[in-house]
Amino acid sequence: MKGVILAGGLGTRLNPITIVSNKHLLPVYNKPMIYYPIECLVNAQIHEILLITGGNNAGDFLRLLGNGEEFGLKQIHYAYQKGEGGIADALKLAEFFADGEKICVILGDNIIEKNIVSAAQDFEKQASGAMIMLKEAENQERFGVPAFKNNRIIKIEEKPKKPKSNFAVTGIYFYDNQVFDITSTLKPSSRGELEITDVNNEYLRRNQLEYRIIDGWWTDAGTFESLLKASSLVSKTGANKLS
Ligand code: DAU
Repeated sequence: MKGVILAGGLGTRLNPITIVSNKHLLPVYNKPMIYYPIECLVNAQIHEILLITGGNNAGDFLRLLGNGEEFGLKQIHYAYQKGEGGIADALKLAEFFADGEKICVILGDNIIEKNIVSAAQDFEKQASGAMIMLKEAENQERFGVPAFKNNRIIKIEEKPKKPKSNFAVTGIYFYDNQVFDITSTLKPSSRGELEITDVNNEYLRRNQLEYRIIDGWWTDAGTFESLLKASSLVSKTGANKLS
């Protein structure tokens, strides 16, 4: 399985600190934010990694990460997203890299306490389809939120005003190659973006969406509150722990 990190977008919710820097280069406790999703993939034995970024500071990723020696990698692949067309728009750029293989996609501002090793192993065995990672959360109106019936997801709503469960869809997703057929048919949402939730709902419609619940804490770091929370959590417990 290959890994894809999505680190495009303008990070406008963190203005003014993202005016001259990319959100994913900001510090989370003692490391740049982008280190955490890379470590998460490497912990899951995913060593072929594509980093998709955009904006004016894209070259800084190359200067910071180089070929990924710091993480035990031989090489990091890079792609550039023009504009800010949404998560699923950025994901389209991974088709050539995936080359028919399964992928694990992680959003560049998602950080976890533990690891996704067993989910990755389960998805390797899954014949086809997708698997998403969920976590109980507060402020679900900021996230994709699943609705359940008999422990099966029946629908995912993006940023619902009235969330139908206590769970958030985290920014860690496993997909087979159908994902690129799906992203190619998406239409922009009311906020003008190609939504990852529409991708997941299409897998659901095809009856091919599994889920797992993340062990340990999970947070994003894309708002002032969550950026502060992420630094505090990492300082207290560390992140990307293998056991
Ligand atoms: O963190 C989990 C949540 O992430 C999910 O629960 C939501 O379903 C999902 O839509 C997403 O919501 P956000 O509103 O937090 O997404 P945001 O626009 O902050 O983008 C998250 C990351 O995706 C960002 O750090 C970089 C990447 N991204 C985003 C956009 C809009 C791109 O690579 N390109 C883009 O155009």
